[in-house]
Amino acid sequence: MERIPPRKPASLITQGLVAVLRQEFRLEWGGIHGAAHWARVRRNGLYLARLTGANARVVEYFAFLHDACRHSDGHDPGHGPRAVGFALDIREGHIDLDDLEFSLLLAAMEGHTSGRRHRDVTVSACWDADRLDLARVGIEPDPARLCTVPARDPEVIRRASAAATRWVERYFGRG
Ligand SMILES: [Fe+2]
Repeated sequence: MERIPPRKPASLITQGLVAVLRQEFRLEWGGIHGAAHWARVRRNGLYLARLTGANARVVEYFAFLHDACRHSDGHDPGHGPRAVGFALDIREGHIDLDDLEFSLLLAAMEGHTSGRRHRDVTVSACWDADRLDLARVGIEPDPARLCTVPARDPEVIRRASAAATRWVERYFGRG
């Protein structure tokens, strides 16, 4: 009898959403704040969501939207608030979250650059998922700057940093 492969859980990141992200994003699509980073943040975040009870739907949108409105790969303190405005603009048609989930997404994006701690586990998991990818810019994630207990696990930091470093080697080693 033919075996049916297990179905991968459907991603919330639709082709339509990717199309509007491509229109919005001003930096290099494959660069340090681009789609490869978003994919690793998504993977980090979904892992943390399984262990913490964070809302995986919010985590997934955060991963793909939080840096979408950067105007620079350097210091760009306005990019979180701009991502909030962008999410409000595209919510209808592209973001399938209820009002509570959407408010968590906005809070996570607004504060993701400078936020230290947040009382909500979903916002905390979003911030950690992003910070666990800091090795791509040569920064070892600092457990004191991570909000959730699973993210502070040295093995979790090591694995996330190894994935980021592999990407750096491919990205900067090209050509
Ligand atoms: Fe990021």
